Amino acid sequence: MKIDLGPGTPVLVVGAGIMGAGIAQVAAQAGHTVRLFDARDGAAAAACAKLELALEGLVAKGKIGADEAKATVARIRPAGRLDDAAGVGLVVEAIIENADAKRALFRELESKVDERCVLASNTSSISVTALANGLKAPGRFVGMHFFNPVPLMKLVEVVSGLETDPAVAQAIFELSQRWGKTPVHARSTPGFIVNRIARPYYAETLALLLERAAEPAVLDACLRGSGGFRMGPCELMDLIGHDTNFAVTESVFAANFFDKRFVPSLVQREMVDGGLLGRKSGRGFFSYPAPAASPPAAFEPEPVPAGAIVALHGGGVAVQRWAARLGEAGVAFESDPASRWNGLQTASGQLRLTDGRTATQVAAEEGVRDLALFDLATARNGGAPGVSLAFSMSAGASDAWRSEAGAWLRMAGWTPQEIGDAAGLVVARTVAMLVNEACDAVLQGVCTPEGADLAMKLGVNYPQGPFEFLAGWDAAAVVALLDRLDAHYRGERYRVSPELRRRAWPAPPAG
Ligand SMILES: NC(=O)c1ccc[n+]([C@@H]2O[C@H](COP(=O)([O-])OP(=O)(O)OC[C@H]3O[C@@H](n4cnc5c(N)ncnc54)[C@H](O)[C@@H]3O)[C@@H](O)[C@H]2O)c1
Repeated sequence: MKIDLGPGTPVLVVGAGIMGAGIAQVAAQAGHTVRLFDARDGAAAAACAKLELALEGLVAKGKIGADEAKATVARIRPAGRLDDAAGVGLVVEAIIENADAKRALFRELESKVDERCVLASNTSSISVTALANGLKAPGRFVGMHFFNPVPLMKLVEVVSGLETDPAVAQAIFELSQRWGKTPVHARSTPGFIVNRIARPYYAETLALLLERAAEPAVLDACLRGSGGFRMGPCELMDLIGHDTNFAVTESVFAANFFDKRFVPSLVQREMVDGGLLGRKSGRGFFSYPAPAASPPAAFEPEPVPAGAIVALHGGGVAVQRWAARLGEAGVAFESDPASRWNGLQTASGQLRLTDGRTATQVAAEEGVRDLALFDLATARNGGAPGVSLAFSMSAGASDAWRSEAGAWLRMAGWTPQEIGDAAGLVVARTVAMLVNEACDAVLQGVCTPEGADLAMKLGVNYPQGPFEFLAGWDAAAVVALLDRLDAHYRGERYRVSPELRRRAWPAPPAG
């Protein structure tokens, strides 16, 4: 069936809240006439008036021309009744996130629109398959998941349920492109792409907070710094609101039959129970309004001690940085690129890249008393000079080694942040878990690897998609790290995705 959703197609948006108003604006800017309906009296008219002001604001900022704004406003009209749906070619629903309310609405709509009209829902968590159940023509029903704020966020997850006609999903995909968006196909599974793959970004930090490995500001600094993420998980949860973030985690957990991989956090539950909801309540992990931040002090890397006895093991950004600094300082060093571990050995102790074991475990198993672990740096080139990198000490290590290890990390250009002896440190375990979740999503046909990368970069502003992280790492090392986390914590959270394990096997030699 050829579905025509060209600019001549009239659109009905149902729900004139924050999302519905944004969807109406984007559709009208793309040339569609739009009717906006809301069950609450006056809500649609109020949203239209607000949109007019928003468009005037864009004109004042020089983002759009006055004529375009005027034409856009003229294309959007409030609808008094659902009967106004007659004649539209597309309905986009953005009412409250309640399955019964949405189902009732679509059933009613079905009797008012003609048979060629596409029905789309902006639900962020309800199964598209379940919403379609009971419709006379479930094939024309599809998820069209926008992100907030709609006019600015590029991503649209085009979500197909079991009955969605592929031609309908494709028509919505192409329509999203014409609306200036970047669509990604997704299968209707809990959390779709973004809300599912993003869970570990919060969960790993919450797990580290539960075991009191570090303060929120330190975890944020590491993930922003050496991790390269735009926002740390704690400030991000404060922004989203802990109630909202917790509700999404709970819904993904329940929808996965309470798979322990998705178990919510006691730390966040307590914050929700206590009303510490983040920015909107004035307090979450941090207080709001936030005190003005003082400009960061200029970072001075530590000088290389003359005559230091150093051997570099393996590779990676830290080893490369040390090699460069030692070379510049004219300090001789040994190098063993084929070593089974990455890091440096001095006359006093060892500083190793985390492999998923605790520092105390590595010290015991490798027979090294003065041992420290440092975190993976996934930011471009390891991050700008002075960004934070986590490190941890083995239980028996000396204070002298603690300060020497810190000095070596500063020498390599990082601000070292000592955290408790937690397995997998901060960035390594978080990124490994994002990769793992993305692999499971691909395994289950939720999306393609390219779709996962696009969705995470556009939907939550990740600096790299999960498969890009994986390409810059090593699947076997990620599997080894997760297996060690699994052995350390037990339970299901660190269960390795069969897709990731498959990618970790080396190809046999040719012939
Ligand atoms: N807010 C977000 O960040 C976000 C992001 C993506 C998707 N979503 C989804 O978009 C939908 C809307 O979210 P929102 O944040 O715009 O909510 P909102 O509360 O701002 O707006 C919902 C609107 O729907 C109206 N409404 C409720 N029941 C109705 C009905 N039966 N018929 C017509 N109108 C009805 C309400 O009066 C309200 O104006 C939800 O499904 C939500 O999960 C929200």
